[in-house]
Amino acid sequence: MSKNIVGITRQSPPLDTTAPFDTSSLQEKTIVITGGASGFGKGFAKRWANCGATVIIGDIDTTQGKAFVEELRKETANPSHQFIRCNVTDWQSQVDLFRTAAELSPHRRIDQVVANAGVQELGTKLDQPQNLDKDEPPKPQWTTVDVNLIGVLYTVHLAMFWLPKNPAPASDAQPDRHLLLIGSVASLIPFAGHIQYSIAKHGVLGLFRSLRATSWKDGIRVNLLMPYFMDTPMIHPGGKVFLAGIGMGKHEDVVEAASRFAADVSIRGRALVLGPRVKLDDDGHLLPPDSQEAEEISSFEVFGHDFEEVEAFTSRYVKILNAVEAARGYIGWAGDIVKAIFSPFTRG
Ligand SMILES: NC(=O)c1ccc[n+]([C@@H]2O[C@H](COP(=O)([O-])OP(=O)(O)OC[C@H]3O[C@@H](n4cnc5c(N)ncnc54)[C@H](O)[C@@H]3O)[C@@H](O)[C@H]2O)c1
Repeated sequence: MSKNIVGITRQSPPLDTTAPFDTSSLQEKTIVITGGASGFGKGFAKRWANCGATVIIGDIDTTQGKAFVEELRKETANPSHQFIRCNVTDWQSQVDLFRTAAELSPHRRIDQVVANAGVQELGTKLDQPQNLDKDEPPKPQWTTVDVNLIGVLYTVHLAMFWLPKNPAPASDAQPDRHLLLIGSVASLIPFAGHIQYSIAKHGVLGLFRSLRATSWKDGIRVNLLMPYFMDTPMIHPGGKVFLAGIGMGKHEDVVEAASRFAADVSIRGRALVLGPRVKLDDDGHLLPPDSQEAEEISSFEVFGHDFEEVEAFTSRYVKILNAVEAARGYIGWAGDIVKAIFSPFTRG
């Protein structure tokens, strides 16, 4: 029998992406953004720094990253924004990024993490066999998987370590524990000729769909953005020619969608696909751009119903976690009493 576990996963209700949102909760938040020296990451950093957040950028591009953070410090009169050189494929480099970010954060905490760093298709192309005149193929280079999937897993593992160090999010919305993942439409559909990219972004989707079922137990809200092609430096000029006429999305729509996730601390476990701006009728049919019948939209919610009908295993697992969580209160209390009784100070 299928079970509905929306409530016990703490997933928030469907989004109204046309509703205005308040960015005041971003004030004094510290936000770590990987790949923040360019493209979307840079857009997020600029927007959130202008809302009063401190942004800490980890990127492999030192020249762009340093120059951007200098500009941001001046623009917002906040000297706390930081650039920290980081190669997301290197575990120790990410460990150092998070530790240094916490040390440099004005309140010594990390409130939000964005796993954004990414590259397009690089390294071995699985659909282009090499060395056919030899006895064996060359060792493959999984460059895109290393950055866009392994790098993301490192970021998430470190976020799961640092975010729970924050005081639990309170009703007065002070600290936050938010992890934003950046997938792609290539998380959802095949991306011909970009197999590593598709594998990595499908992996990010799987990560999101599974993690959001249980991240509530550490008070962490996890959300996902999956943009279509957008005009950032990642899309090289050849790609732009190839995409001509298809209709690229707007970079600023991705920044706004990410800002909604970042600012509205009630949003948990939701995913948006971002595409070109379109007008649709009530049945989802495309209207001409000059139609007065509908407003332009660029974002669509997906995988919102995952927990409405799950199989018994997931349901039981989440219920067990709930029970452990509830019991932890008593265990914690008992542990405190034992420690108090046997502590050298009470024993005199
Ligand atoms: N632009 C698009 O059309 C598009 C569409 C869907 C998803 N995305 C995703 O959005 C994210 C941001 O991409 P973008 O379009 O802003 O590209 P971008 O090239 O403008 O920015 C990517 C940033 O990541 C950094 N980076 C790359 N490798 C790194 C590494 N090993 N360690 C640390 N930093 C590294 C780069 O230096 C750069 O600053 C990526 O995850 C990308 O896959 C982009």
